[in-house]
Amino acid sequence: MKFGIILGSTREGRVSPQVGEYIYNIAAKREGHEFEIVDIADYNLPFLGTGEPNPAWNAKIDELDGYIFIVQEYNHGLSAALKNALDSARKEWFNKAAGIVSYGSGSGIRAAEQVRIILSEQYIAHVRTHPAFNLFTDFEEFTTFKPGAHMEAGVNDMLDELILWSEAMATIRK
Ligand SMILES: Cc1cc2nc3c(=O)[nH]c(=O)nc-3n(C[C@H](O)[C@H](O)[C@H](O)COP(=O)(O)O)c2cc1C
Repeated sequence: MKFGIILGSTREGRVSPQVGEYIYNIAAKREGHEFEIVDIADYNLPFLGTGEPNPAWNAKIDELDGYIFIVQEYNHGLSAALKNALDSARKEWFNKAAGIVSYGSGSGIRAAEQVRIILSEQYIAHVRTHPAFNLFTDFEEFTTFKPGAHMEAGVNDMLDELILWSEAMATIRK
């Protein structure tokens, strides 16, 4: 199975690459599966309907069997960049599975729950376990990601669920 770790923030100075790399380093220990960081910022996606769509985004979403969304919270919601990226593909998302990892000053819980609503509409099966990191306790100076070692167990639970459901969803895509 091929999985994309999708960075939801395109903000200058964002911390999402650190969170994505942490998840990648845990996930990469899984034999028989491939994981890659997918950075929305690399695709220069126009806001839906305001410019030429980027077919490379749709091709990338299509080639992946499952996703891990790195979700950050802004004003009690998900980032506009992630919402736009989710809206910028349709059938490419269908019948896949996903895990959610969030962070923020309130651990990004509200944004993560909003992402679940959107994933349901895109026929993406989102797993239960949701590692959530807090800017006050899992970061130094709100900028350097230093999660406690105890957080790794939750990430592995999420990965177990994601791999199981991604394999199941692959059987109905054939
Ligand atoms: C405009 C703005 C609004 C924010 N609102 C919230 C919020 O409502 N809840 C929360 O938990 N964190 C909030 N934060 C903190 C962000 O989650 C935090 O800055 C995080 O690092 C953003 O992710 P990024 O650095 O990857 O872009 C906000 C940050 C900004 C810049």
